Amino acid sequence: MSVRFAKEEDLGRINELRRQVNDLHVQGKPEVFKPGFSQELQNHLYTIWNDPAQEIAVSEREGVIAGFAVLHRIYKPENPFMKERDFLDIDEFCVDSAFRRQGVGTEMIAFIREWAKEKGVARIELNMWEFNQEALKFYEAVGFTTYRRYMEMTEL
Ligand SMILES: CC(C)(COP(=O)(O)OP(=O)(O)OC[C@H]1O[C@@H](n2cnc3c(N)ncnc32)[C@H](O)[C@@H]1OP(=O)(O)O)[C@@H](O)C(=O)NCCC(=O)NCCS
Repeated sequence: MSVRFAKEEDLGRINELRRQVNDLHVQGKPEVFKPGFSQELQNHLYTIWNDPAQEIAVSEREGVIAGFAVLHRIYKPENPFMKERDFLDIDEFCVDSAFRRQGVGTEMIAFIREWAKEKGVARIELNMWEFNQEALKFYEAVGFTTYRRYMEMTEL
């Protein structure tokens, strides 16, 4: 298994992959996402790095980081509507375009599942943008199901 947790020296490369995701989001939802990959967005990775509730996993192929995932442990106490919740949120997920359809994403999900189990977390969740049908196919292929939807009306 070539998946491991990131080292600080990996963060520059991970930002190259984050830029790919940002570009994809800008293309798919230009009314929402800001074009370019601002310094602020790049620096956000260091905020994640320094947050004890978040981890960054990477997958390596021939010594190159081919994919990464940001994992966020979230605890929400019980409230009048909902029971207590404790889950792992996959906040960011990307495989370099040069390494797609080679099982890298599947391998990262297997690693994340094992790690979540070790940590005693019984549920993994993520959210994604509807335009990204390729990501949806991937997530469904590795076992995720839709449990909630965001809807919008744009022709007012
Ligand atoms: C979505 C993504 C993570 C998939 O990673 P990957 O390493 O290419 O996925 P895998 O090779 O493990 O694919 C496993 C299965 O998922 C499905 N799948 C993956 N990519 C697919 C695509 N583009 N279209 C249709 N099905 C796809 C297939 O069933 C595939 O199995 P197969 O190749 O044997 O047919 C990758 O395309 C990516 O990083 N995209 C851009 C960023 C992104 O959308 N991130 C997620 C939302 S933020």
